Amino acid sequence: MDCSMAILLLCVLSFWTTGQARRCGDRQEEIDGHCCDMCPPGTFLEKYCSEVDQTVCSPCKEGYYSDKYNIFTICEECQQCPQGYSEKCTSTTSGTCSCQSGFLCSNNNCSKCEKNNCQIWENPKRTGVSSDFGLTTYLYKCEPKCRGHEYFDVKEDICKPRTQCSAGGLAERISGNETHNSVCYSPETQRGFTYVTLCIGFVLLSLSLSVFVLYTCSKKLRKHKANKPVQVVPAKTSDFHLSKEESGVQLTIQDEYKDSSGPLHLDIR
Ligand SMILES: *[C@@H]1O[C@H](CO)[C@@H](O)[C@H](O)[C@H]1NC(C)=O
Repeated sequence: MDCSMAILLLCVLSFWTTGQARRCGDRQEEIDGHCCDMCPPGTFLEKYCSEVDQTVCSPCKEGYYSDKYNIFTICEECQQCPQGYSEKCTSTTSGTCSCQSGFLCSNNNCSKCEKNNCQIWENPKRTGVSSDFGLTTYLYKCEPKCRGHEYFDVKEDICKPRTQCSAGGLAERISGNETHNSVCYSPETQRGFTYVTLCIGFVLLSLSLSVFVLYTCSKKLRKHKANKPVQVVPAKTSDFHLSKEESGVQLTIQDEYKDSSGPLHLDIR
């Protein structure tokens, strides 16, 4: 027997009982002239009462529930959830569904979930769309979380006002958007910074230039000295080499002829 049949039965029963004077209690039904106890929530009717026996009720099976005093012969099936329950199904409650993070309920009982396509700085705004049998289908629209002059700080999860660069006499390096604050700079500081950079660059350049000039000059000087021709007259035993470089005078005494009072060779350049 399904739900609609049970409802039909209840209707027939209530129709039948209203015709007679009500003698039974609040949580009783008159059946065949007897006042039968109704079944409490969490149970269903197993057997009507009789002259001798009370009503027999049975607890709902797992996944089924009844939330009222009833004389239904079955329990109702719990809500089916595609992604999980926010409240679990019990013998007396149907439970409620919820969608996982990043998803949104597609209708009022959340029997369907859909992906949340909004950006981190946006909120999904629900626009209810009514449809059949008490089931309301939801449509969503993404709306910014923050107001126009604000940005959404993702780390702190709050809206913060955007810095107005011009208000502080500053210029805007990066204009802010939905998730970032504006980045300002002071044009004067910027100019000063440029000057300092240029100065340092100039000093470095001239330093390296002078080092280069000094190096090449000294190298040339040394080479020049080395190339200065020195005429050495071959000597047999030993040479006395006296040089006077400053004056460019070279004096060579040739030993060989010293003893024999030979000629003294004087080489002047
Ligand atoms: C906002 O600006 C930052 C850089 O300043 C950028 O990385 C980011 O993608 C921008 N966001 C939007 C939504 O335009």
